[in-house]
Amino acid sequence: MSSINIAIDGPAGAGKSTVAKGIAKKLGYIYVDTGALYRAIGVFALRKGINTKDADGVSAVLKDITVELKFVDGVQKVFLCGEDVSIEIRTPEASMAASNVSAIPAVRAFLLDLQRDIAKKNNCLMDGRDIGTVVLPDAQIKIFMTADVEERAMRRYKELQEKGINDSYEQVLEEMKERDYQDSNRPIAPLKPAEDSVIFDSTGHTLEQSIDELSALIGEKI
Ligand code: DC
Repeated sequence: MSSINIAIDGPAGAGKSTVAKGIAKKLGYIYVDTGALYRAIGVFALRKGINTKDADGVSAVLKDITVELKFVDGVQKVFLCGEDVSIEIRTPEASMAASNVSAIPAVRAFLLDLQRDIAKKNNCLMDGRDIGTVVLPDAQIKIFMTADVEERAMRRYKELQEKGINDSYEQVLEEMKERDYQDSNRPIAPLKPAEDSVIFDSTGHTLEQSIDELSALIGEKI
C-alpha cells in the first residue's frame, strides 16, 4: 500500500513546523522538516570556512558529507557525518547559510532522494519550500502556509529569545525579508505555491487555531 504524503510549503516563520508537528501527532504520521537538511549542509560549510554562496566550493565538499534524519519517539534528529547537530542548526547564522546553500543546484540534487525515500516509506507531513512543487508533486494534499512578514518575524524573535539568542526584532525582520527574497527568487525550486495547493494564511491565528483549521481541512481530504 502506498503511503499518504502531505506537503506543507511556505516562508520561514509561517508556523509550518509547529502546526505540522501537531497534525502529525493527531494522525500518527511522521513529521519531516526538510529545512533541517539544508541547515546541516550550511553548518558543514560554515565549519569548514567555505563561503555558503560559493556554488563550486560547496558542491566540491558534498562528497564528504552524510546527512541523515532519524526519528526518536516521533521527534526528528539531524545527523551530519554521524554527529547530532539538531541544536546547532537552529542559530540565525545557520538559517542564512541554509538559505544560501539551498540555491545551489548540486545541493538540492544531493538531498532529493533522501526526502523522497522517507515519503515513500512513511505516512508523513513534509515541510519545506518545494515539497509540493518538486519533491513530492504527487502528494495527496498540498498546503501553502503563509503569514505577514512582521508577524512571522515577531514569532521567530520570540523563539530565539526563548533559546537565549538576543538578536533584535529589527535584525530578525531584516534577515527574514532577505531569506524570503532569496528563497522565492532563486532559479531552482523557488518558494511558490503548487498550482494544486490550498493557500492558508495564518496571520492573526493562534497556533491552536491553525492546527484545528488545517486538521479539519486534511480530515475532509483523506
Ligand atoms: O524551513 P527552514 O527555515 O528551516 O529552512 C532553512 C532554509 O532552507 C530556507 O531558508 C530555504 C531552504 N529550504 C529549501 O530551499 N527547501 C526546502 N524544502 C526547505 C528549506
